[in-house]
Amino acid sequence: MTTDEKKDHVAFVVGYTGETGKEVVKALSLSDSFERVLLIGRRQTSVTDRLGQKFEEKIVDFDKLEEYNDVFAGCDVGFNCLGTTRSKSGGKEGFYKVDHDYVMKTAEIAKHNGCKHFLHVSSQGSDKNSCLFYTQTKGIVEEELQNLQFEHLSIFRPGFLLCDRQESRFGEKLVACLMSPCICCCAKYIGVPTETLAIAMVRRACRPNGQVEIIDNPTIHYIGS
Ligand SMILES: NC(=O)c1ccc[n+]([C@@H]2O[C@H](COP(=O)([O-])OP(=O)(O)OC[C@H]3O[C@@H](n4cnc5c(N)ncnc54)[C@H](OP(=O)(O)O)[C@@H]3O)[C@@H](O)[C@H]2O)c1
Repeated sequence: MTTDEKKDHVAFVVGYTGETGKEVVKALSLSDSFERVLLIGRRQTSVTDRLGQKFEEKIVDFDKLEEYNDVFAGCDVGFNCLGTTRSKSGGKEGFYKVDHDYVMKTAEIAKHNGCKHFLHVSSQGSDKNSCLFYTQTKGIVEEELQNLQFEHLSIFRPGFLLCDRQESRFGEKLVACLMSPCICCCAKYIGVPTETLAIAMVRRACRPNGQVEIIDNPTIHYIGS
């Protein structure tokens, strides 16, 4: 850590109940660069019981996020770990609502309220021209986030997220199974533990690198290890 690093960031995290978000919260709890952290989500949890006083949970309705403008006030850093799957959200529309609409609304309101650095979990292969709906949506969001002109925008493009997921996701289990022989030799290219991703995000929040930085899977390993 450099001596000129800012120590009094106020951050928010959306998606903090998810696998990546939980690790971001853990990494923030171990960092002394954040004075206050707002955990913004759709349901009350007990997460703040075991965290220090700098953490506060705020419950919002993502369909009416503009009504919660004041929740974002004073946050100079925003972490976005929101996401869903088509099966969980009821199909393409449900997926797009969370992975595009909620993310963009969060980013717009955050920017309006003075957020200087937005850190976003996208995905390996994201491309607005992709023929796959998932990677296409991720690419569209990346482009629209860039148009918002944050002082700093960090876009993380992880490969397969390695974590002990409680929820059963057949597709991901299948991919994990097929990938297991390759994990040892090319782990840096195909997957990343959510803990490493979260550490990389918090480190980048403390030390931004340029106005827009797109961080691929090997670089996430490099920053977060
Ligand atoms: N899985 C992979 O291998 C992989 C690979 C590359 C990139 N990614 C991307 O990485 C990001 C994070 O993934 P993850 O696996 O850490 O996510 P996750 O465990 O599925 O968590 C998703 C988060 O989004 C919130 N969320 C979902 N639907 C919502 C809704 N309708 N309204 C409000 N909040 C909602 C969840 O809140 P609740 O707890 O309230 O549901 C949770 O906090 C996602 O954008 C994903 O697409 C994933």
